[in-house]
Amino acid sequence: MALWGGRFSSDTRDEVARYSESISFDKRLYKHDIDGSRAHVKMLAHAGIIPQETAEAIRSELLKIRDRIDAGDFKYDISLEDIHMHIESALIGILGAEGARVHSGRSRNDQVALDLRLYLRDEIDLLIEGLRRFQKALVTMAAANPRVIMPGFTHLQHAQVVLFAHHLLAYVEMFDRDAERLADCRKRVNVMPLGSGALAGSTLPLDRELVCKELNFERVTRNSMDGVADRDFAIELVSALAVFAMHTSRLSEDLILWCSQEFDFVELDDAFCTGSSLMPQKKNPDVCELTRGKTARVYGALSALLTLCKGLPLTYNRDLQEDKIAIFDAVDTAEQILAVYPPMIETMKLKEENMRKAATDPALMATDIAEKLVELGVPFRTAHHRVGSFVKWCKENNRLLNETTLEEMQITIPEATEVFLTLFDPDNSVAKRKLTGGTGFDPVADQIAYWQDRLK
Ligand code: ARG
Repeated sequence: MALWGGRFSSDTRDEVARYSESISFDKRLYKHDIDGSRAHVKMLAHAGIIPQETAEAIRSELLKIRDRIDAGDFKYDISLEDIHMHIESALIGILGAEGARVHSGRSRNDQVALDLRLYLRDEIDLLIEGLRRFQKALVTMAAANPRVIMPGFTHLQHAQVVLFAHHLLAYVEMFDRDAERLADCRKRVNVMPLGSGALAGSTLPLDRELVCKELNFERVTRNSMDGVADRDFAIELVSALAVFAMHTSRLSEDLILWCSQEFDFVELDDAFCTGSSLMPQKKNPDVCELTRGKTARVYGALSALLTLCKGLPLTYNRDLQEDKIAIFDAVDTAEQILAVYPPMIETMKLKEENMRKAATDPALMATDIAEKLVELGVPFRTAHHRVGSFVKWCKENNRLLNETTLEEMQITIPEATEVFLTLFDPDNSVAKRKLTGGTGFDPVADQIAYWQDRLK
């Protein structure tokens, strides 16, 4: 008979036990469940609810149970439903009636909320560390290649010349916002729900502040009904992970393009690619493609959690047990991405000459000519039109923009002077973009120095 079986006269059907178990996935919460129970019984003894010796016996048995689970020497059985029941019943198996005091003043509803918060708090710290490693890999690659130029794209068309380092550092910004979002979400995770009971608190004189301090939480939850029903903290986390996954998916798409024969800007190390079972020449950027695919999975987790909660009346409903499948999958996926990407970036080879060759198309400097005209006092719209006509003239006369004489240029740009013929050098074009945040050598060096300092 189950631990809650007092009012039941028959056992759960096997199909139902299989349908309702969560041990197969919530067993990963065992450490946090044990930490929570150890703090809880310490408080129970302190508040005079259970004897001191009982609390000590329970606390030390819980550590032994943890060691057994660590060592793989613990039997799981779906008739015990979840990790909370497994640990409680192991405790009762060893300590008998004394062990049966552990659940005083507690419900699995507030217990699972506590475990999840403890678990996610740890995961957030790991995720932030992973993001910092990822940023470091990108900054290191940028710092090692400060003068590599490439075409920058809008609409996936050649737009203007940029530094390769600048392109990488754009992702460093994204991952910084991801880390900020996680740190912000952590504040809402870091609130202690135990003492909410099933939904209404407890008649026992529990000392919630003691548990809060013992487990290093910022504060206790203010409302017991919210305490057991709330999963906002998990939704926020998975939402932050969805944005992170989207960022990695965009990076992956850039890398996939850059690895293609058409671009040929970089080569990923063999260790991060796979071959074709049919075509002997193939080397495919599968890791990047999988990241685009796994991003869909993280979105799915977010969608599942939002949908799971939208129709739930207060307070706890068993639907919430399904939250863990989505949460764990999103966290695991993010951690896998964070394990694979830093070394993939670190080992990536640049094909600097190909990037430069693509960046020497003089059409990339058309905006520079228009801005030169603005410097000479020509209104921008007029300048834009003149350079547009010049591009058209070149196309019609089968010439690149830097293959005209000054006189030919003056047909469409009457203000043009000798200096205009020197505006087609891609390095000069980059060098002139000195604004903060621009792709010039100086502001990019400033960005690199900023990140090197921040990520020390
Ligand atoms: N395993 C459940 C969950 O993950 C917690 C148990 C609450 N169950 C209950 N019947 N009150 O949400």
